[in-house]
Amino acid sequence: MKKVYLETFGCQMNVSDSERVATTLAKKGFEMTSREDQADVVLINTCSVREKAEQKLYTRVGRIRNSGRSKPVIGVLGCVAQLEGETLFEKIEGIDLVLGTKAVGRVSEVIQRVLDGEEGIVDLGEREKDYDWTVSDPQRHSPHVAFVPIIEGCNKFCTYCIVPFSRGREVSLSASEIVRSVLDMRRTGIREVHLIGQNVNSYRPTTDSGLEGFKGDTPFSRLLRAVAATGIERIKFNTSFPRDFKPDIVDAINEHENLCNWVHLPVQSGSDRVLNMMKRGHTIDSYKRKIDYLRSSPRDISITTDIIVGFPGETREDFEDTVSLVEYAGYDAAYIFKYSPRPGTPAYEMADDVLSEEKTERFLKLESVQRRSQNERLKRYVGKTLDVLVEKHAVRSDAQVSGHSTCHKVVNFEGSDSLVGSIVKVKISEVKSNSLLGVRLERQASLLA
Ligand code: SAH
Ligand code: SF4
Ligand code: F3S
Repeated sequence: MKKVYLETFGCQMNVSDSERVATTLAKKGFEMTSREDQADVVLINTCSVREKAEQKLYTRVGRIRNSGRSKPVIGVLGCVAQLEGETLFEKIEGIDLVLGTKAVGRVSEVIQRVLDGEEGIVDLGEREKDYDWTVSDPQRHSPHVAFVPIIEGCNKFCTYCIVPFSRGREVSLSASEIVRSVLDMRRTGIREVHLIGQNVNSYRPTTDSGLEGFKGDTPFSRLLRAVAATGIERIKFNTSFPRDFKPDIVDAINEHENLCNWVHLPVQSGSDRVLNMMKRGHTIDSYKRKIDYLRSSPRDISITTDIIVGFPGETREDFEDTVSLVEYAGYDAAYIFKYSPRPGTPAYEMADDVLSEEKTERFLKLESVQRRSQNERLKRYVGKTLDVLVEKHAVRSDAQVSGHSTCHKVVNFEGSDSLVGSIVKVKISEVKSNSLLGVRLERQASLLA
């Protein structure tokens, strides 16, 4: 039996694709292995969103080639594969196959062709036809949490972003199929589902099937209510796109306990001028109104974001506007990136005129402002009790386990591995830089007794 090692970079769409690939391969008689040095086939599922992400592919293939062992079959999957196609054979020595995001459904056939001696295989496919949205019995990144892609691709064409080119146009899965797979998951012990897509709020299925009877102004909020009605314990969703993020989403969260109190709403910049150059299609004023509406919810919804610093033409004043916005929004977490020009995007044609040192300086300043603001914000959890889905043994302490709260914070607490998979009440005692520390309530009660 041929052994396959699969490594994944990039966003949850890639993680989800990798789950599909692993499942397909296992069904077709391959063995998935976590030992790269023993694999006959090494697959790298790539990301192209920033230059550094893309660079990882080149480093990885180089390392495999120089490892001294006989060369395995090397396959490049994912966004770099889709964008570069056969030019990858010229750029990287030693690779055997290139399989785009739209062709992942054919992974086993393509590997078999390489094993049978065929060379230089490129398959960029047609996702709409080949993508297996709802594999049954998938191999998951976690036994209790499942990713459910609800919309694939992106139509937004933000000027800096490669995703619309690597993932193609938006295609939404029908609500009845989504609901059916969530019901299946519930039966097989999944406790938390993440409805995923580049812009989940842009969810627009071609049929109303499965949404009948669910209220809401947008198909997405109706889908949220339909998934909530399955009775699955926790539902999270990301990423949200500010322009399509409507109040009816917050209303649905307010009315359904199993819709989790966390929204990832990337703002990218705090300056209208920069947002305009990015073609995000919203203003800071309209974004702030959405933040205000989220804050008005009785559910204490945590808000997280993504921000790019050093976009072409970003002035000191523009950057200071971003700093002010971060202070206004009080994010529970923010992912900050230095602008990275991506060939083929409209922004690539603009002068990348913020000097590299200046980008670093802005990055560090924003990071420290966010850290301070986040620390203040997270203090509100101290003394509160959060429901934590225990996912694994904690990384830093032998005596601790780790999981996520409904507001998507990492929570660590003292407990044994037998708790993995259960939802427990944890009273928060301390705020760490990127996590919360607490004490399991039942345990505390028994100690007091
Ligand atoms: N669909 C999501 C995000 C997709 S990419 C959205 O619209 O928000 C994830 C994040 O990577 C983006 O939010 C952005 O902050 C960052 N990003 C995308 N392209 C980038 C680039 N060229 N340079 C730096 N950061 C980038
Ligand atoms: Fe990229 Fe913009 Fe689409 Fe997000 S919405 S994936 S940032 S083009
Ligand atoms: Fe990267 Fe592709 Fe996702 S470029 S962020 S893996 S859609």
